[in-house]
Amino acid sequence: MEKIVSLCKRRGFIFQSSEIYGGLGSAWDYGPLGVELKRNLKNAWWKTIVHNRDDVVGLDTSILMHPDVWKASGHLDNFHDECVDCKNCKKRFRPDQLEAKCPFCGSKEFTNSRKFNLMFKTFAGANEDTASQIYLRPETAQGIFVNFSNVLDTTRKRLPFGIAQIGKSFRNEITPGNFTFRTREFEQMEIEYFTRPEDAPAFHEKWVNERLEWYLSLGIRRENLRLRPHLQDELAHYAAACTDVEYNFPFGWSELEGIANRTDFDLKQHTQFSGKNLQYKDPVTQEEFFPYIIEPSGGVDRALLAFFVDAYHEEEVKMVSKVEPKGETRVVLKLSKELSPVKVAILPLLKKNDGIVTLAKKIKQDLQKSFVTVYDDTAAIGKLYRRQDEVGTFYCITVDVQSLEDKQVTVRDRDTMQQERIPVEGLKRYLTEKLLN
Ligand code: GAP
Repeated sequence: MEKIVSLCKRRGFIFQSSEIYGGLGSAWDYGPLGVELKRNLKNAWWKTIVHNRDDVVGLDTSILMHPDVWKASGHLDNFHDECVDCKNCKKRFRPDQLEAKCPFCGSKEFTNSRKFNLMFKTFAGANEDTASQIYLRPETAQGIFVNFSNVLDTTRKRLPFGIAQIGKSFRNEITPGNFTFRTREFEQMEIEYFTRPEDAPAFHEKWVNERLEWYLSLGIRRENLRLRPHLQDELAHYAAACTDVEYNFPFGWSELEGIANRTDFDLKQHTQFSGKNLQYKDPVTQEEFFPYIIEPSGGVDRALLAFFVDAYHEEEVKMVSKVEPKGETRVVLKLSKELSPVKVAILPLLKKNDGIVTLAKKIKQDLQKSFVTVYDDTAAIGKLYRRQDEVGTFYCITVDVQSLEDKQVTVRDRDTMQQERIPVEGLKRYLTEKLLN
């Protein structure tokens, strides 16, 4: 994990939030490469879940919602963790994660266990009184439930169908940690899939398999993923069943995503609290009922961390080349072509040769219309290759003196390190075949 955190910082994937002020615990900023990776991850999810299906539509709801939403959802009454305080240093812990002694000061004296609501409170408007107290949403799901009728009326979808959303959520976690794994501000990718009650168990199983497949399709190794059905006593108050997709992180197997059968709890609750009927009316039989909901709910930050960890390789260079001697160790981020933040790096072999620089810049300008491309001339070529390997760049294109005569460039493949001479005019077609098919 230390190597991952250090690479993330050194190469501009993830920085500590407010670092110049000493940092804010458990909050992280995505740097220039991190933001590309995160966007690619969210786009890949959106493409699979929304664009490539006929039965799911997207939504983007606000973080701030009417406070009654949280009464109806059960968050005000049930979204608690148990906590105890160290009587000496006042640090707060979850009792299930605490040894006999305080890990900060060694004291053995703790307060009795109390319930601590994980929602962040804030105020809307100029008056900081209780009337204007609202919450930062702790999950994106509720924005979907309260828009159920709006989406139904405007899209004329019929069961079974789903609504998908990606967005920020906030939880005042007592013990955040493990880098971006558990934080107080994070992004979720959630699907609420509405079905007839009798179909819910079969759709639950289907979604569990589809979600596992998604992680595999984007490159996570099978041996590092597993499914864990929840025991009856672990289930949330609204759920009839839940299965987690877990990843084998350096700190142990941990949840990436949960796929729950939420029953008809949510639509019933919001009907009761809002007074608006959120039942589904079958257009053929005119039968009215509350659909069941299957909810695949994953974290963007957690998924990103898992893809990053899985892609991280240290390997011995096997090929012999002048600039990449055999036996060296290279760090290479073997991210899939969908996820890797940069697809192509243009590297001029001599940065003071006008002909080379002009041709290299021209190639960059042509290719950047189709692929995320960078230009780097700030080191010797061997070092430039290492830098690009470390951040997962798929292809390095080297422009050399020979290129000025034969109008060909060297294209190096990240994973095989094989080099090929490709005509400049055929570059776009070559890369399109490799990267977009
Ligand atoms: N709507 C259901 C729901 O929110 P959850 O299991 O509490 O269920 C779903 O959260 C996913 O959100 C988790 O599997 C995880 O990937 C992500 N997540 C939850 N809390 C998080 C936190 N504190 N930091 C980062 N990701 C978190």
